Amino acid sequence: MKALNFSFQIFIVIVCVLISTTISLAQQKVNILIVYYSSTGNTQQMANGVSEGIQRDSNATATLKKVDEVTSDDLAAADGIVLGCPTYWGTIANPMKSFLDINGFWESKVGGAFSTGAMRAGGKEHVVVSLLLALMMKGVIVVGPVYDFGAFQSGALGATAMTGPPDDGVSESELDDARALGERVAKIAGRLK
Ligand SMILES: Cc1cc2nc3c(=O)[nH]c(=O)nc-3n(C[C@H](O)[C@H](O)[C@H](O)COP(=O)(O)O)c2cc1C
Repeated sequence: MKALNFSFQIFIVIVCVLISTTISLAQQKVNILIVYYSSTGNTQQMANGVSEGIQRDSNATATLKKVDEVTSDDLAAADGIVLGCPTYWGTIANPMKSFLDINGFWESKVGGAFSTGAMRAGGKEHVVVSLLLALMMKGVIVVGPVYDFGAFQSGALGATAMTGPPDDGVSESELDDARALGERVAKIAGRLK
C-alpha cells in the first residue's frame, strides 16, 4: 500500500512538472527585431507601424533599431527580423546594403520587408523584393501580410509607402499595411517557436 502511495506521489510530481513546462513554453514570447534606415523619417514611421502590428499579438515583443545601432546580440535574440529601407536610385539605400553585407547567417528566423519611395514607379517594390532575397540568402523564412477583402483574399510582398507628391508622407492606410506585415511576422514566428 505504501509503495502504491509513493508511486502515486511520483506520478503527481511528473504531471505537475509536465504542466508547468508546457505553460512556461506557451508563455515564451517571440521577439521580433525591426531594423530600418531612415534619413527624413518616412521609413521610421513605417517601422513604428510594423512595431504596432507586432504588438497586436499578445505573445510577441517588438524591438526597433536603426540600422547602425543593431548588435550581434540583438540579431541572436530575435525570432524574427523585419527590414525597412527607403528607395535610393531604384534600389536599397547604402546603409542597409552595408548592414546586410557585414552581418551573417540568420537561419530559421522569420522575416519580412518594407520600403518607402517618393516616386510612383520609383522602385519601392524592387527594394522590398531585394530585401526579401537577401533575407532568403541568409536562411530566413520570409512572409508578407495577408488581406481579406471579403470577395477575395490576397497576400502581399511586404509593405510600402509612397512619400512624394501627389501623396506626400506616410498615410494611415500605408501604416495599416505596415501593421499587417508586423502582425503576420509575429504570428508565423510564434507558430514556429
Ligand atoms: C539619394 C536619394 C535617392 C532617391 N531615389 C529614389 C528613387 O529612386 N525612387 C523613389 O521612389 N524615391 C527615391 N528617393 C526618395 C526617398 O526614397 C523617399 O523620400 C523616402 O521616403 C525617404 O525615406 P526616409 O524619410 O525614411 O529617409 C530618393 C531619395 C534620396 C535622398
